[in-house]
Amino acid sequence: MSLHIGVLTSGGDCPGLNAAIRGLGRTARTQYGMRVTGFLNGFRGIALGQTVELDDQMLSGILTDGGTILGTSRDKPHRMNIGGKVTDMTDAIVDNYHKLHLDILVCIGGGGTQKNAKRLMDAGLKVITLPKTIDKDIGMTDSTFGFDTALQIATEAIDRLHSTATSHERIIVLEVMGHRAGWLALEAGIAGGADVILLPEIPYDPKKVAESIRNRTMSGKRFSIVAVAEGAMALEDAKVVEALLKEKEAADSKKERAAVSAKLEKFHEEHVGHTIRLTRQLEELTGQETRLTILGHLQRGGTPSAHDRVFATWLGARCARAIHEGESGVMLAQQGSELKLVPLKDVAGNKNLVPPDHPFIRTGRAVGVSFGD
Ligand code: F6P
Repeated sequence: MSLHIGVLTSGGDCPGLNAAIRGLGRTARTQYGMRVTGFLNGFRGIALGQTVELDDQMLSGILTDGGTILGTSRDKPHRMNIGGKVTDMTDAIVDNYHKLHLDILVCIGGGGTQKNAKRLMDAGLKVITLPKTIDKDIGMTDSTFGFDTALQIATEAIDRLHSTATSHERIIVLEVMGHRAGWLALEAGIAGGADVILLPEIPYDPKKVAESIRNRTMSGKRFSIVAVAEGAMALEDAKVVEALLKEKEAADSKKERAAVSAKLEKFHEEHVGHTIRLTRQLEELTGQETRLTILGHLQRGGTPSAHDRVFATWLGARCARAIHEGESGVMLAQQGSELKLVPLKDVAGNKNLVPPDHPFIRTGRAVGVSFGD
């Protein structure tokens, strides 16, 4: 009997989602005769039974489109806002999975989605996941689709900022996304020739950043580009986070741990916009006019790069084959030039952060980039 697979996209959207849906859907249907049902708006769709049949027509003409034809959300199965009330929808999801006679659920998403998919696996469902995020912060995979497109956008922004920074002899700070990982800022910074790159993984000292800019000025370079990851932190802020993380580790009860987690979340929420403070500090410390550009969701919108189209199609098609071969409880990961199936239990909660001695950091330092440390 032919298999019936469900698919959803969850978390922040990114370029390549439609290519992955198409790669999965076309292969599943044409190579293996499977039926493919899409759920709308992430885990909310399967909780509320909101479906769409992914037939030939739905899967056509979407390869180059940004966003996701299924819609997405940051809803978690166990904590979903239903009519203004936070509700555990795990049982409803399990019920709908069985009512629809699904054989497996494909969850396409980032770090949060991997954790949520694992929760559903623990609740007894068969799941398989694909790694998408512009942040490239999922463990056990070399890359995630969406990253390459965002990298090109952020790099082009740095290229464009160069001419205006030069004309006005200004410092320009560019904030790029990446959540709590620095891959996007690091790679865009190196590709665009940023003079300073600030990452969450290397807490910075604003005085050291200013000093490196003053040194540039003294050597005759009257402009500077500072690429900052949204999650980058000044030393003093990083110390607060470190202390809270220690407090969380030492907490005796679940309740205490939850209280510290809430404090951490609040700290991170209030940290948003820290580049405004950094911009002012740099202007004060260097005496040079300084401007800020926050690239924001421009990095997630629009058509995927050729690389992301290929990568997402590859992941989708390989996923259909894995399902055909009876696999579940795994994420498809890129390791070198191959796609491997890695256990979801090892991926969930496993973050891929930039190691401070990563070759790209050493490369940056070799060509004179300051990391503010
Ligand atoms: O995870 C992708 C991402 O774009 C992060 O880089 C960023 O921190 C976050 O999503 C923004 O989320 P939202 O679109 O929900 O504001």
